Amino acid sequence: MFRPVDSHPGLQALEDNWLAIRAEYDSLKEVATQYSPTGWYWIVLRYHTLYMKRRELAPVTTKLCEAIPGIIAYSFTRIKPYGYVSPHVDDDSGDSGMMTGNLGLYCSGSTGLNSGGESKQYQEGKVWVHDSNVEHFGWNTSDKDRACLTFSYATRPVDFSKSVVVPFIMESLMNEGVKNVEEDSKTS
Ligand SMILES: [Fe+2]
Repeated sequence: MFRPVDSHPGLQALEDNWLAIRAEYDSLKEVATQYSPTGWYWIVLRYHTLYMKRRELAPVTTKLCEAIPGIIAYSFTRIKPYGYVSPHVDDDSGDSGMMTGNLGLYCSGSTGLNSGGESKQYQEGKVWVHDSNVEHFGWNTSDKDRACLTFSYATRPVDFSKSVVVPFIMESLMNEGVKNVEEDSKTS
């Protein structure tokens, strides 16, 4: 279920620049929106055709993610100490063949992800990708935050008109206010 960093163009550059990406996470981490009561937080930078203005505060991350072929979403994600992500399947109503990757930013102790019955530990500065249309869940059994850059790319043409703004993204948009969101008419 897991694919290595060399399985798709543009992913090695994330590893090569991971400390710069982590520094941008550090500057934004206080704005994270809690997605679930289990301690899962998101700092959305892009979701399909919605581009958060805060991505201007993460220029290295934004540039590198936009260079990934088929990129459709990227966020910083955080799991608080002893938090977890319940089993779920990511929304892919556009049938894009979506793959989701994680770049480890703060991953001390036992923190990982299970996808389709296979488990992997997060590692700082390392990328791996999984098919997020397969049920998956994550955990952080350490006493420190687990933080990643989490990104998704499509492997088939994307029809954004069929995509749905999932509830936690909508919550993030509502919390930030419309002024912090802009539609990109070039890709919609
Ligand atoms: Fe997911």
